[in-house]
Amino acid sequence: MKNFVSASVLSADMLNLRDEISKIKNAGVDMLHFDVMDGVFVPNITYGLPVLEQVRKETDIILDVHLMIIDPIKYVKRFAECGADIISFHLESQSNTMDTIKAIKSAGAKAALAVKPNTPIENAFEYLPYLDMILVMTVEPGFGGQGFIPETVEKVKIIKDKIISLGLDIDVQVDGGINDKTAEIVKSAGANVLVSGSWLFKSENMAEAVKKLKKAEE
Ligand code: DX5
Ligand code: ZN
Repeated sequence: MKNFVSASVLSADMLNLRDEISKIKNAGVDMLHFDVMDGVFVPNITYGLPVLEQVRKETDIILDVHLMIIDPIKYVKRFAECGADIISFHLESQSNTMDTIKAIKSAGAKAALAVKPNTPIENAFEYLPYLDMILVMTVEPGFGGQGFIPETVEKVKIIKDKIISLGLDIDVQVDGGINDKTAEIVKSAGANVLVSGSWLFKSENMAEAVKKLKKAEE
């Protein structure tokens, strides 16, 4: 299973987004993680479709869109049209899970299901055959820069074992509090797509930081 690093631009310098995008590309980052928050599903508001559309014009990097919004099915087609390659939405949202997966796929994007720290990962089992990726949240969604929740590691193990037992080929993504130390822990548990925001953007040398995350993934 290939390993990826996805840079969360929530921690980027928003007024210099063009430079930040070329910086992450040059640093060897594989994906750009784009956190969309609506102020309802989570207590924070970020950015949305018009910004994504501009980002798409700027780069050919894989755009990994994480929707933290209350009714994602209403918007997935438009996010795909604006350039999302992968769309994650929450199991805890109000949209019907299976219908939303279908809507993402028929819009031409890869479908991922995100699970908050306090939701049992077993609740996602029935959707695994239809997913390209599962996102195990390692912090409570809403803000960058929070501490990694250690109890989520067990969930990564459980979902990875289930994926293997079903003979599926699905990426396991983790998001929140990922640095060189926690990367090692989640990798041994079975994660292969690591989102990193504050740690990556605060690093003095992003290329070195990416190497550390990738090394931790091997
Ligand atoms: C949190 C977001 C994350 C966040 C990760 O709700 O989904 O993608 O930006 O940031 P760090 O790596 O700083 O925890
Ligand atoms: Zn995210």
